[in-house]
Amino acid sequence: MRVIDMALSKNIVAALTKQINAEFFSSYLYLSMASQFDVMNLKGFSNWMKVQAQEEITHAMKFFGYLSDRGSKVELLSIDRPKTRWKDPLEVFKGAYDHEVKVTDMINKIVTLALKEGDHTTNTFLQWFVNEQIEEEASTDGVVQKLKLIKSDSSGLFMIDQELAQRVFVPATANQK
Ligand SMILES: [Fe+2]
Ligand SMILES: [Fe+2]
Repeated sequence: MRVIDMALSKNIVAALTKQINAEFFSSYLYLSMASQFDVMNLKGFSNWMKVQAQEEITHAMKFFGYLSDRGSKVELLSIDRPKTRWKDPLEVFKGAYDHEVKVTDMINKIVTLALKEGDHTTNTFLQWFVNEQIEEEASTDGVVQKLKLIKSDSSGLFMIDQELAQRVFVPATANQK
């Protein structure tokens, strides 16, 4: 137990704990999407989702690390079961994009709460996520737009699959908790 007085408010702890859960759920959802692509034999799309699933775990761990650094005990919540079936690649990526829009909204709401409580430390911590969500929305929407462009052209789909096969997981650097 820490004795230093730097405790986060109950509301902030609850919101950050919920966010850890949302990030793990994101990882689960993207893993489920990866499996959908595997059975569609779209290995590049699947690779992209597997990398994204790994990235989501690093997001969860950043929140975990922050709570821990602030002297909070992390009480993990249960993770919901993600959707398991999508009809085509476009439906999958639309789902991913919609999900990221929801995550952005969650992050924004915690920022609003932190500002309301005058918790500038948490606000500063959250700015990394505010920026990250720009990338998350742009990358998922980018694939949605490409899929819309090719419609059901199989050579176009093959090209996108090749492109998404290139994505590699880059672990966060040491100074990013
Ligand atoms: Fe995330
Ligand atoms: Fe990202």
